[in-house]
Amino acid sequence: MASRILRSLVPPLKQFAGTRTYAKEASLVTLIPGDGIGPEISAAVQHIFAAAQVPIDWEVVDVTPVKSPDGRWTIPIKAIESMNKNKVGLKGPLATPIGKGHMSMNLALRKTFDLYANVRPCKSLEGYKTPYEDVDLVTIRENTEGEYSGIEHTIVDGVVQSIKLITEQASMRVAQFAFDYARANNRSSVTAVHKANIMRMSDGLFLRCCRKVAEDYRDIKFDEMYLDTVCLNMVQDPTEFDVLVMPNLYGDILSDLCAGLVGGLGVTPSGNIGAGGVAIFESVHGTAPDIAGQDKANPTALLLSAVMMLRHMELKSYADKIETAALEVIRNPSFRTADLGGKATCSDFTKEICNIIESSD
Ligand code: IPM
Ligand code: MN
Repeated sequence: MASRILRSLVPPLKQFAGTRTYAKEASLVTLIPGDGIGPEISAAVQHIFAAAQVPIDWEVVDVTPVKSPDGRWTIPIKAIESMNKNKVGLKGPLATPIGKGHMSMNLALRKTFDLYANVRPCKSLEGYKTPYEDVDLVTIRENTEGEYSGIEHTIVDGVVQSIKLITEQASMRVAQFAFDYARANNRSSVTAVHKANIMRMSDGLFLRCCRKVAEDYRDIKFDEMYLDTVCLNMVQDPTEFDVLVMPNLYGDILSDLCAGLVGGLGVTPSGNIGAGGVAIFESVHGTAPDIAGQDKANPTALLLSAVMMLRHMELKSYADKIETAALEVIRNPSFRTADLGGKATCSDFTKEICNIIESSD
């Protein structure tokens, strides 16, 4: 509810929503601004895209769940139609209410569009000091099953069971994706992260699939490591890692850990790649209701997700231009937002990126 009220405080997105066309061949992209700080960081991305004259138009949709006649909560049909038509989407944070009777809309989107691979690059930001330099790794998370299958039930009072579902099909396709990603991005190794010593059947299957796929990619080094060992080694020396592939929950946790090594969830992008050609790029931080509507949020994670989206759309020159400008502004402490220890507002940061882009033309 609070996010609904705050949403109205944010400047309307009208001037960039839907109708404006920069080039004849402009593609339509679905924008889900989200809750809390979502609308203001989305507006920041739209301003920066406008400054860079990116040849896309935005179709803004809301994914607040609606109750269908059979009583189930679903994504509004308009949002589903928009994604099916446009194939590419950018999404801000969505609140995940606990115990409200409907599943997280974040997960509903992943399930609905079969977004099976969640790609989360983690790269040190030049000039922003963290305990490690030169971190440059990518976690690839299976995004449709595992511990997120949502199959839970009470067996008897006081005993509940939660099913971790692992299938050969989902494991094969995410492993394949990880190796293809490594090849396409000039990466040299893929590490499968697992606990097959304990979850012998489920993680065992996942691991066997990774091994099988690895045989077809002799140019990429393949390793397998236990999740706990990865955590230990990761915080001791993250630079030894390259591409990592893993089941759903491990990827959720490990990707946050990795984000923490380079500045946090405010600066790390993410992309969800689907089987049916649909892809949704999103910031994975929360809605930050405590600062929503106050122009304090850092739009970097959503902006870098939007840059990933441009690369996915083969709009590489725009991606490079925006990324270079964003990284240049982050290097300058006077434009950093509070989460990075600075005093700048979201608008200060956004304007400076726009200035650099406009002056580079
Ligand atoms: C993420 C988030 C989601 C997840 C939440 C919001 C449902 O933490 O994208 O990592 O658990 O996957
Ligand atoms: Mn998470």
